[in-house]
Amino acid sequence: MAKVLVVYHSHTGNTEEMAKAVRQGAKSVAGVETSLKKATEANADDLLGCDAVGFGSPTCFGYMAGGLKDFFDRIYGNARGKVNEKPYTAFSSAGRGGKEAIESIDKICATFKLKQLAEGVVATGKPTPEVLAQCQELGKKLATAESS
Ligand SMILES: Cc1cc2nc3c(=O)[nH]c(=O)nc-3n(C[C@H](O)[C@H](O)[C@H](O)COP(=O)(O)O)c2cc1C
Repeated sequence: MAKVLVVYHSHTGNTEEMAKAVRQGAKSVAGVETSLKKATEANADDLLGCDAVGFGSPTCFGYMAGGLKDFFDRIYGNARGKVNEKPYTAFSSAGRGGKEAIESIDKICATFKLKQLAEGVVATGKPTPEVLAQCQELGKKLATAESS
């Protein structure tokens, strides 16, 4: 059974709403197991054990939030070299709607040799229904992705 992991950080709930929509999209695909984890509670085994992963973060100071960066820092030693070509996608809520957090996630994922599955989705502040629909589509893509 395909396993989709969604790892996110959120301070005021906007990115969390997006994360839940990504998971919902993945769950809508028959036979897919999903897992939603706060970045502060996720570890390398979570990433090693999934077939595809979505990463979400608010934009903070023109970068991803510290909680998600800390996840990548913590798992580096155990996950690097073991997740090559695993499909991922990113999503972010930003006060001004910019892509800096997505770009910072993409850069780190390139270091891990994860495979970008789709362009990241950005919300300006609270995600609109349209943005949540885009997040659901991301989830569906993760659920149906081939891992190499
Ligand atoms: C410490 C901090 C730094 C922020 N820096 C930025 C920023 O550089 N650019 C931006 O567009 N929004 C910035 N914001 C606004 C958040 O990205 C925005 O409020 C977002 O919707 C929060 O998402 P969340 O509810 O998932 O925490 C910042 C917010 C905080 C708390």
